[in-house]
Parts: sequence; C-alpha cells; structure tokens
Amino acid sequence: MTHTIQPNNPETTPAPDATDIPAAPAPAQAPASSAVPAALKRRIPKYSDLAPLMQFKKPEFSKEARLKRASTIWELRDIAKRRTPQAPFDYTDGAAEEEITLGRARQAFLDIEFRPGILRNVSTIDLGTEILGKPSRLPVGIAPTGFTRMMQSEGEYAGSQAAEAAGIPYTLSTMGTASIEDVAAAAPNGRNWFQLYLWTDRDRSLELIERAAKAGNDTLMVTVDTAVAGARLRDVRNGMTIPPALTVKTVLDASYRPAWWFNFLTHEPLTFASLSRYTGTVADLINSMFDPTLTFEDLDWLRETWKGKLVVKGIQTVEDARRVVDHGADGVVLSNHGGRQLDRAPIPFHLLPEVKQAFTADNTDAAIMLDTGIMSGADIVAALALGADFTLIGRAYLYGLMAGGRAGVDRTLQILEKDMARTMALLGVSNISELTPDHVRLLNK
Ligand SMILES: Cc1cc2nc3c(=O)[nH]c(=O)nc-3n(C[C@H](O)[C@H](O)[C@H](O)COP(=O)(O)O)c2cc1C
Repeated sequence: MTHTIQPNNPETTPAPDATDIPAAPAPAQAPASSAVPAALKRRIPKYSDLAPLMQFKKPEFSKEARLKRASTIWELRDIAKRRTPQAPFDYTDGAAEEEITLGRARQAFLDIEFRPGILRNVSTIDLGTEILGKPSRLPVGIAPTGFTRMMQSEGEYAGSQAAEAAGIPYTLSTMGTASIEDVAAAAPNGRNWFQLYLWTDRDRSLELIERAAKAGNDTLMVTVDTAVAGARLRDVRNGMTIPPALTVKTVLDASYRPAWWFNFLTHEPLTFASLSRYTGTVADLINSMFDPTLTFEDLDWLRETWKGKLVVKGIQTVEDARRVVDHGADGVVLSNHGGRQLDRAPIPFHLLPEVKQAFTADNTDAAIMLDTGIMSGADIVAALALGADFTLIGRAYLYGLMAGGRAGVDRTLQILEKDMARTMALLGVSNISELTPDHVRLLNK
C-alpha cells in the first residue's frame, strides 16, 4: 500500500512563550516607549470576529462517529471496555497469573528510541510486503483467537472480512466460533490461514487439516505453547464460562451493556470451528484442546501431511526456532501467546534479533513473524527494523471488534496503517525493505 505525504503540511506547534526566551540586553540608549500598539488595545469583540471561531457541531452518536474519535488502539480499548460485559472483556484483555509477561511485552516496544534519517524523499510510503510467498498490503495479519463471537457477535466474520478488505492474512483459530467453511465463504477473496491445536489423536487433527485445505487455506499455523492451559486468573474470578451463563451478576451487567446482550441473544448460538456445541468452563474446554504428550515427531507427521505452508507459533527460544525449521517449518511466530500461558516468559521483541542472527547464520529463508504486545503501528515498524518479516495482532483487533464489530476492526487496521506510514516517513524510510536495525536503539541495554 502506498501513501502520499502532503508536502505543505503546516507546522502547527506554537512558538515558545516569549517569557521562556532569555531577554537580550537592551541597547544602551534605547528610549523607553510607553505607547500601546493599536493591536494590543482592548475592544468589544464583533460578531464578524467570532463567527469564524464558532464551530459548534451537532453531537454525533453513531457507531462510525464513535470509532472515528478513537485515534489509538488504547482508545478503542476504552470504548470496548464500556460496551462489553466484564467476563468476555477480561477474557480478552487479561493474561496469565500476574500478567507480568504481557506488561513486559508492551513495555519492550516502548523501551526503544527510533533513529531517524533526515533529508530523504518520503513523499510516498509503501507498506506492502511478501509473506510466505504471497503479497500482503500491510506487514501485519490477524492472529488466531478463540471464542471471538463471544466478544462481539460478528466475531470471526468481522475479522476475516476486514482482513480481506485490507489485503492482509486472517488466521482462524481451532477454537474459533465460526466454521472453516463459513469463514471461507464470508471472505472468499481473503488470504485465510488456519491455526491448529495439534492432538496426538491424528484422526481428529487430520479431519481439520483436510477441511482447511479444501476451504482454500494456504497456511497452517500450529500452536505449540499450550501443553496445558495458562492460569488466567481474571477468568477464574469472573466465573467465566462458554457461553456466558445468565447469573445475577451477568444480568446486572447486561443492564448497562444492552447492545452486547441484544446482539448475543439474537444471533446464532456459538459454535466452534472444530467442535460441536460446547457448554462448560473455559479452563475445561482449553484443557480438552491442549495435548501435553506432543513432541517433534508429531510436527514431522504434520509436515508430511500438510502440503501448504507450515508455520509454528509459540517459539520462545533460538534453539526451538532453529529446530522447527530443521523439521520443515516454513516460518516461525515468536510469541508467548499474548502473555496468556507462561507468566515471566521470554519477550518476543527481545528474542527477535537473536533469531534473526541465527537464521542469517544458517542461511535459512524461513519467515520470522512476531506477536504479543503490539498496540501501535510504531511497534510494528520497530519489529520490522529488528528483523521481523511480518507481525500479527490479537488484542488490537479484538478491541476494535468489541468497540464496533466489523467497522471497529476496520478502524484498528486504519489506525495501525496510519501509524506505520507516519513513523516510516519520520524515520526517513519509504518502504519496508529500507528498515534496518540501525533505525532502532534499545534503551536500558
Ligand atoms: C482472547 C484471545 C484468544 C486467543 N486464542 C488463541 C487461539 O485460539 N489460538 C492461538 O494460537 N492463539 C490464541 N491467542 C493468542 C493470539 O494468537 C496471539 O498470540 C496474541 O493475542 C498476541 O498478543 P497481543 O494480543 O498482545 O497482540 C489468543 C489471544 C487472545 C487475546
């Protein structure tokens, strides 16, 4: 995607207050003037002076206006929080145990300093890239997330259609609340990927893989950081169940989030991409999905079985990144599952330069993708500069979804796109291949 930067962008920063500037010594014999200049004399304002200043607009309460007012992902999160019952909001927003991993992952992106180049022609910014052999209009895709229709009824349909419209990949989770076939039908021109929780029960895995291939998914992303479920304490405290149960607390919650409940109760009940209807706690469902007996042999089986691109998600050490590539992976996702599994886990942004160095030394062209903690386009630009080929967003798109369904996901992608174009222009870089580690200095190192 190319962006044209307007050259006549006026500098709007006000001049420093005159009192901030040290006064120059007065000329030796300058006569002191007591005359008040005409422009500084007080007068009663005329209507013609006020008219251009008066810009009272009719307040707008539409969804579009609400979303437009958000200019950061954090602001979308604020809207999402107001509109979503606490249990599904916390399920999305929360992480494991003391949520140290998530906090550190977000902080890691802030603990950098960009090093811009000046006097470069950045009138056109190209954000396009190639990932796993095909183009993507932006260097970011949508990460797999489970139970998405519980956050907002449009769920996976909103995510996949927004991704299709933006020309970026969308990943459907094994725990998605729409089927592989329905997502493919909803976004027929999209680049749809499927995320697999691999089981040692190969028949169960095989059935899903075959469905994903038949529905046109070109990439299978196998998640490997879920030997068991992480301890998501907010869910325990909220008594979170799938689907949300009607208790006194949730009914009270419904009274001031009527739109969410109206949507939830008037749409198709939640179904899963891979399971039939399920009723139970999140922890039970997740535990039934995760298989603690998996080994690299299962990955070998998957490599033989799946003919498309194979990506392993949840890589947290350099050794494992190398090892999965040796076992045939076409790419890795450096990820700690958005801090939702092991607390105090390695931070993907910190791991990135080491993996890049190892892959360069090994002369492998396996793709390096990264997620966890991305909340702005500047985060994405920093990751690309340090060697990522591509990035994925989880919560950033879910906040948009909860703030306004499909239009909210569109807004997330617009915000990130604008952030990236602006950051690159200010760095003096007009396309992604020009970004290098020299553009980023890690603070506190
Ligand atoms: C609500 C939620 C559900 C998730 N479900 C899955 C899932 O089903 N499969 C999976 O591989 N990762 C899942 N993830 C992890 C994401 O794919 C991704 O790794 C993570 O969200 C990235 O961090 P971020 O949210 O800070 O962008 C989930 C994340 C969230 C927030």
